[in-house]
Amino acid sequence: MKDLQNKAIEVLNNNWKDGFSVPCANLYPFQWFWDSGFIAIGFAHFDMPKAEKEIETLLDSQWNNGFLPHIIFHTDTDTYFPGPDFHRSDLSSQSSKKHKSTGMTQPPVTGFVLQDMYRISTDKKATLKFIESVIDKVYFNHEYFYNNRDPKNEGLAYIYHNWESGTDNSPIWDDIWQTMNPPKYTFERRDTTHVDASQRPSNREYDHYLYIIDIAKEHHYKDAKIAELSPFLVQDPLFNSMLIKSNQSLIDLYQLIGGHDDKISQLQNWQGKAIKSFNDKLFDKELGVYVHYDLRNEKPLRYISSSSFSPLFANIPNKEQAVSLVNVMMEKFGNDNQYLCASFDPTSERFNPKKYWRGPVWVNLNWILYYGLKNYGYLDIAKRVKADTIEIIEKAGFYEYFDSRKEVYKNGTAGYGGNDFSWSAALLIDLLQ
Ligand code: DGY
Repeated sequence: MKDLQNKAIEVLNNNWKDGFSVPCANLYPFQWFWDSGFIAIGFAHFDMPKAEKEIETLLDSQWNNGFLPHIIFHTDTDTYFPGPDFHRSDLSSQSSKKHKSTGMTQPPVTGFVLQDMYRISTDKKATLKFIESVIDKVYFNHEYFYNNRDPKNEGLAYIYHNWESGTDNSPIWDDIWQTMNPPKYTFERRDTTHVDASQRPSNREYDHYLYIIDIAKEHHYKDAKIAELSPFLVQDPLFNSMLIKSNQSLIDLYQLIGGHDDKISQLQNWQGKAIKSFNDKLFDKELGVYVHYDLRNEKPLRYISSSSFSPLFANIPNKEQAVSLVNVMMEKFGNDNQYLCASFDPTSERFNPKKYWRGPVWVNLNWILYYGLKNYGYLDIAKRVKADTIEIIEKAGFYEYFDSRKEVYKNGTAGYGGNDFSWSAALLIDLLQ
């Protein structure tokens, strides 16, 4: 295990670019929002100054309205598409003048990442001082979500693009693509020069992705216009679980710091409303799990994915709901031939064990599920998620995503996407402690 841990440290140090980390070399050459959060958790175990710098650099890209972008383009490389010239964050009057970025966000992990840094720290006083220096920016980011991404005042933030979900090409979005007919774009894919095309989204899927961005750009990334016009408008259980977990972390951290009663009571208000709506609206009693809600077409998207179980991490389900989540997870995702936890329902015909978010196991989701299961007292299953995560990395390497079928590991490659992937290394370090 020491060897594996040393290799993980080497991966993180190699992906460090003087102030921030790339998710992996070549395929993702900039800073990504939720990647940075998970990476900071890894660094916190052996190099706290880098963990702090990672978060500082991320928060330095904050827009005037509190928004945090999903990619911050620190360099001019043209090895990634779509880059800064496509996204054009300068079109927004709110965007940062310092950093070029995208005009979409990613799951808001920063609140709970700060709390994890505090958990890991061996110098709690110094880490709390650091947290005190950045926490208001994270609060401002949450304020942005509740003021701009919740048009019906339900306590649930919407996402307007599949890239905001983090689960980029999930089969769940297929239902939304069926409601759209975007023009065919002419563009040069760069991802498929680094990774086999069978492991990445299709060109037609990219047409949809680009078209939604073009609508947002046409309206200078104004949230009200996006809420009115974007063909993709979804309340996502993973995204909202991250926000709710981070709300709780901000409450706990502000309490540790002392004072800030107004912010704590605002966070508690958001939290009360969010958890109630989440359970009323996103829990599908028939399926026994949480599902996504399509706000544009006003209907639930009734599919089971690893996101369906992520509310365990944020203390959202009651006991009965937690039992149901675990039963479904073990029945559909957890038989002896499979590693936990596939990103999409392995019993569905839309399941694809090699293609990005259409089935493979992802280390960050496993990490979320590990702590969520532990949180509800499912210690044996939590242990299995942890053991499975360590085993797939040991057998295949620090890949971006992994096959869930055990048989594949005997005869060939079972790790897919980018190699030496930062969050696979970072979260392994945390799991090994
Ligand atoms: C990609 O390029 O696939 C990224 O995941 C977008 O965030």
